[in-house]
Amino acid sequence: MAQALTRASNVTFHDEHPAPGDSRSEILRGLQQAQKTIDPKWFYDEKGSQLFDRITRLPEYYPTRTEIRILTENRREISEYCESGCLFIEPGSGSCEKVRLLLEDLRPSAYAPVDISADFLRESALQLGREYPWLEIHAVCADFNRSWSFVDRLPEGKRVVFYPGSTIGNLEPGAAVTFLQRVRDILGEEGGALVGVDLHKSVQTLHDAYNDTRGLTARFNLNVLGRINELLDAEFDQAQFRHRAFYNGEEQRIEMHLVSERAQSVRCNGSRIEFAEGESIHTENSYKYTLDGFADLARSAGLCLEQSWLDDDQLFSVHYLRNR
Ligand code: SAH
Ligand code: AVI
Repeated sequence: MAQALTRASNVTFHDEHPAPGDSRSEILRGLQQAQKTIDPKWFYDEKGSQLFDRITRLPEYYPTRTEIRILTENRREISEYCESGCLFIEPGSGSCEKVRLLLEDLRPSAYAPVDISADFLRESALQLGREYPWLEIHAVCADFNRSWSFVDRLPEGKRVVFYPGSTIGNLEPGAAVTFLQRVRDILGEEGGALVGVDLHKSVQTLHDAYNDTRGLTARFNLNVLGRINELLDAEFDQAQFRHRAFYNGEEQRIEMHLVSERAQSVRCNGSRIEFAEGESIHTENSYKYTLDGFADLARSAGLCLEQSWLDDDQLFSVHYLRNR
């Protein structure tokens, strides 16, 4: 692991952020495909993380408040599964809001938030550290789809991976299995994973959640173009693209796209990217699962579903997984 960047009482930072050159070639590859794509991880710079945080409080965005209710109502039982004294690792920790719901009951030996959004991670971890002075925090800036070697530098103890928010839904099913296999590899016999998964529901509810009337999801989606401009010295103009989100029933996922308002040629990394009018960049998938579908996915990764918690309307689910 790269050296610890900052030490502030109970909070330590480690930076494993991918090199800028790697990021550039990865993004360019996506933009040169027949269906242009950008990996949703690029949404999350400081501004993107703040926009996502605001999305979680929108009336239309049911996942966050539903999962918060599930975690709050079941926090004692959930903490018994995880066991106090565990090392609690959260890939894609964002604002570190949800861990707060469990900390008092769980009393982990240490908490390791892992996120790609470096500055937002630093601020969120410091804030949490101030609120919970007894908690040892090891914040890691890393891409959770790459090596998990950072776990070897974390304190010993039963490892529990906390992956709420249905962030797993942003991975293609194959990548979700690979992700869970990585998790399984670090759990050993004793460890577990607490995973939040969004469920199938009416298309209207899904549509509204990704097309909010305040336009925050549109701003979140369009913000990625600013990110690409920075990283690739490009000249994407947000005003020349529009947000589009729809449910793809065959694939059982919400798709987000940025649609070009007109034919245009955009300077990017010393060359040009051509768009026909109406052509899109596919920026995110958000897969929705059935309980059986998620159990099958976990099984393919060598994990079994030991317990599940749902809200009364079965909008969202939280699962405790173990090695089989
Ligand atoms: N866990 C929080 C935040 C979910 S938003 C919640 O449940 O509300 C998804 C988070 O994952 C963001 O903070 C984003 O920065 C992070 N993220 C997305 N892709 C990532 C990747 N490949 N590696 C590390 N973090 C990633
Ligand atoms: C982080 N992730 C689970 C969110 C989702 O619902 O797929 C990201 C998001 N995209 C648009 N709104 C929220």
